[in-house]
Amino acid sequence: MSYKAKFKVWRGEGGEGRLEDFTVEVNEGEVVLDIIHRLQATQAPDLAVRWNCKAGKCGSCSMEINGKPRLGCMTRMSTFSEDETITVTPMRTFPVIKDLVTDVSYNYQKAREVPSFTPPSGVQPGEYRMQQIDVERSQEFRKCIECFMCNNVCHVIRDHEENKTNFSGPRFLMRIAELDMHPYDVADRQEAAQEEHGLGYCNITKCCTEVCPEHIKITDNALIPMKERVVDRKYDPLVWLGNKIFRR
Ligand code: SF4
Ligand code: F3S
Ligand code: FES
Repeated sequence: MSYKAKFKVWRGEGGEGRLEDFTVEVNEGEVVLDIIHRLQATQAPDLAVRWNCKAGKCGSCSMEINGKPRLGCMTRMSTFSEDETITVTPMRTFPVIKDLVTDVSYNYQKAREVPSFTPPSGVQPGEYRMQQIDVERSQEFRKCIECFMCNNVCHVIRDHEENKTNFSGPRFLMRIAELDMHPYDVADRQEAAQEEHGLGYCNITKCCTEVCPEHIKITDNALIPMKERVVDRKYDPLVWLGNKIFRR
């Protein structure tokens, strides 16, 4: 069964834009990205949208649907009632390039600032031996599709552009936590998390966890344990004594 749905889609570029109204056909089983494609094919050929896999795996089609960050390709039209007006806007935290396409280079910059896996010297690839529990702990984090919706929704940068320099966002704090939990990683992740990546800015609102399409428990399994590790180290009497003696 098909019906006509009302859409408001954000159009614009160069910092200027407006919501444009459309009435568009919807067929059974379709997702929001199908409707955006139909708009391109029938009414707005120059409407810009980023997508690739249409299977919830590439993380390209992040957008805000009725104000909530979602993947366009995984949001079924049946989620909404037929008489509801559906508003589609670009992710708010990143600058708009055109229409629904944002410039997400902030995220790639933050990715580059996290040093890669650093094994101890003298251990050759193939010699790593890990407990199953350590493998499983990081397995969850590796499901990330880098849709950046967690970074988009985190109030630390969503409402405060000025924090972007000092805060890497939940996605990359999670990456640091993943590396810190790796038994063969010897880099000092804890001090870097606090001093360079802004772990202290996170006040555990859990909005990141709520929007993650991979259902990764970002806050409970990555950010809170990382905060605990940082605090444990700060108040560890031996570390404290070492700092006193060696940093004089
Ligand atoms: Fe997207 Fe989840 Fe990865 Fe964040 S952690 S970038 S919300 S998949
Ligand atoms: Fe932001 Fe997630 Fe912390 S939304 S404040 S990083 S719990
Ligand atoms: Fe790949 Fe939506 S198009 S996640």
